[in-house]
Amino acid sequence: MSQGALRILLKKILVSFLLGLGLCVGQSPATRPQTAQSPTTQSKAAQPKAKAVKPQPSDWWKHAVFYEIYPRSFADSNGDGLGDLNGINSKLGYLKELGVDAIWITPCFPSPQVDFGYDVSNYEDIDPTYGSLSDFDQMRKEAQQDHIRVILDFVLNHTSDQNEWFIDSRSSRTSKHRDWYIWRDGKGPNQPPNNWVALFGGSAWQFDGKTKQYYYHYFYPQQPDLNWRNPAVKDAMFDVTRWWYNRGVAGFRLDAVDTLFEDPNLRDNPVLPGKNVYGDPNMVNQYNIKLPEVHDVLKGLRQVADKYDAVLVGETATDNIDQLKQYYGDQGNELQMPMDLMFMKVNDLSPPKFRTQIAAVNAAEGWPVYVIGNHDLVRSYNRYGDGKHNDAIAKVMAGLYLTLRGTPIMYYGEEIGMQNNDPKFKKDVKDPIGKLGWPHEKGRDGERTPMQWNGTPNAGFTTGIPWLPIPASYKTHNVASELKDPNSILVFYKHLLALRHTNRALLDGDYLALNQDDPNVMSYLRRYKDEAVLVVLNMSGQPQMVHFDLAPQGFASPQARTLLTTMPEMQGGATLSDISLTPFSVYIGEVMKQAAEQKQQ
Ligand code: GLC
Repeated sequence: MSQGALRILLKKILVSFLLGLGLCVGQSPATRPQTAQSPTTQSKAAQPKAKAVKPQPSDWWKHAVFYEIYPRSFADSNGDGLGDLNGINSKLGYLKELGVDAIWITPCFPSPQVDFGYDVSNYEDIDPTYGSLSDFDQMRKEAQQDHIRVILDFVLNHTSDQNEWFIDSRSSRTSKHRDWYIWRDGKGPNQPPNNWVALFGGSAWQFDGKTKQYYYHYFYPQQPDLNWRNPAVKDAMFDVTRWWYNRGVAGFRLDAVDTLFEDPNLRDNPVLPGKNVYGDPNMVNQYNIKLPEVHDVLKGLRQVADKYDAVLVGETATDNIDQLKQYYGDQGNELQMPMDLMFMKVNDLSPPKFRTQIAAVNAAEGWPVYVIGNHDLVRSYNRYGDGKHNDAIAKVMAGLYLTLRGTPIMYYGEEIGMQNNDPKFKKDVKDPIGKLGWPHEKGRDGERTPMQWNGTPNAGFTTGIPWLPIPASYKTHNVASELKDPNSILVFYKHLLALRHTNRALLDGDYLALNQDDPNVMSYLRRYKDEAVLVVLNMSGQPQMVHFDLAPQGFASPQARTLLTTMPEMQGGATLSDISLTPFSVYIGEVMKQAAEQKQQ
């Protein structure tokens, strides 16, 4: 064997060895774990006597800004009116400039698209709508060059009814995959096994004529629930995560984790008075969500993730902090990033409500995860906006969730003030829950409209016909125009994200609530050792005066040095004893231990 061939062989052995350890994948050089082998030590590592170094998972996700992309709506590269992976690839430069460190792409796997990708028919491929596996690899590689990690959406509660596992499962009562799903006899003719209703309407049980049993689905009938009590299901799904990690994926957002297990005895849920928007009886989901067994699955998934220095983000629909706390795991050994969706549901610009929620999450002893919008909820621009000052309010909300202690997850378009565009007529609705629940429930189309890139027709999203109509506001709220306007929401986001990436107190400081009785102005300190940043947010439509004495917190200087503000008159700095705030304004300033003149003495 020639020397060159020997070197190639050694390198191949080394790469597969490192891949086995979870190194070499999806990590930017800046944040690669300390234990990774540098290229110069490669030949040593390949020698049989070299001691394998166990990689320690890092905390890269704590300093990262995440950005959710709904691929169908982000950027269309081929003019079919639907976004795709090459479209995402073409916008990586924008995301890098914005200050994004990780993108979470909602499902882009093969799917009949009944629930727009949340019905997966094959977990190890890409839906042709979005491109191919090689497009994915290319996009992931280019993202890595821009120091952007790629997180995928893992739909683990259910598959599509077109998944080959389910096709086999429903084929006969003795099929190999029968027990991969939840099949039961009805209570009698036309009577499902119990009273559970699906989140998306109707009974949660679907009768299948071929084998004369019912199967269970928490969501649509085309989304049969997997049976997580079957070890084969667990093995297959864990393997899916490994398969993507080995392709360079840096983690997963775990879809609907609350729903993985059901009561084995299928007890009826308690019924409440009244009906929901679909006309089904209201009930407490006592026996079909948040069963304790989910924590064993999460611990197992975390062990796999840790081998690859990957992050697990959870769609954790919790009602209280105790439930949220459990998702971190008793030893911090489950999800690193369970989303605090309760924060997102504070639908008022209310300092007292935000303070309460933030204090509770900080007390949960895990790393907080803040989100103000996603593909299932009316956009934050509309939920917090008052209809007149929405741009200013969008900056106030950014000033809040991007300066808190924790990791923020942005939703595409939030940074330009995209607004909901709900369908006007039932015939236009794409989301099945909108068709079923019309007119009370209009579905989720409104928050999933195409990204607004510029002021040209179709907002520069596609050269074809966009799959959802774009709101008229795209003419003013689009990337190209906002980049040119120093007072735009987008430019504010860019400054804020740049600050958050470089300011030690914003990165690692603790959170100290200030002026806690103020009903209009939310203020707090982010403090790291001798450094601190004061954040002041006027959440009201009236001017406000606020007063601070930060000596008890160790910052006696009466002045703050402005880092970022929406008030031009405050650019020069602020006197802490009297800060005058215009309606819906943001002030972020650095505070000091002692006054500059005292320092010189
Ligand atoms: C999650 C997704 C939602 C989807 C549902 C079913 O809640 O965010 O979009 O419809 O799961 O998979």
